[in-house]
Amino acid sequence: MPDHITARPAGAAEHEQAAPQHRLRLSVNGAERAVTVDSRATLLDTLRDDLGLTGAKLGCDMGQCGACTVLVDGEALYSCLLLTIEQEGRAITTIEGLSSAGELDPVQRAMIAQDALQCGFCTPGQALAMKALFDHTPHPSDEEIDRALAGNLCRCGAYVKLRAAARSLAGR
Ligand code: FES
Ligand code: FES
Repeated sequence: MPDHITARPAGAAEHEQAAPQHRLRLSVNGAERAVTVDSRATLLDTLRDDLGLTGAKLGCDMGQCGACTVLVDGEALYSCLLLTIEQEGRAITTIEGLSSAGELDPVQRAMIAQDALQCGFCTPGQALAMKALFDHTPHPSDEEIDRALAGNLCRCGAYVKLRAAARSLAGR
């Protein structure tokens, strides 16, 4: 870097302020978890970096790919768009919490049976989007399946098999 260019303007440090820290209790996969986060932390940051739950993936970080999908009070949401400080009192489910007592969820079993994954990067988000759909609509139409999965992109192009998994869960 040339001598006359500095990485930060002179005096910048005095104007920088640390973001306020917040102590929270989150309900994640049925357990209370205490975290200390700054005001800007997203739920995705907190799950991955503070709680070690790396199933939710960081893809676009701007609400476009669905790789970070988790369930919040039963709704499939992009965790990269949620502030952690607003999640107290809400029930958060990640892919790590989808199986129960060592048994995979029917959604996971259907995805495996239909071979509905390739690299796996989008798979946790796809599974949770599908879980939210079937929890609310046990026998969705093809249109409802397409609408429910439309927010989850798959670079590997596993869409045909993902829909086959959803259709098998719908009894078709
Ligand atoms: S990482 Fe959240 S929508 Fe892409
Ligand atoms: S399985 Fe690779 S991105 Fe979907």
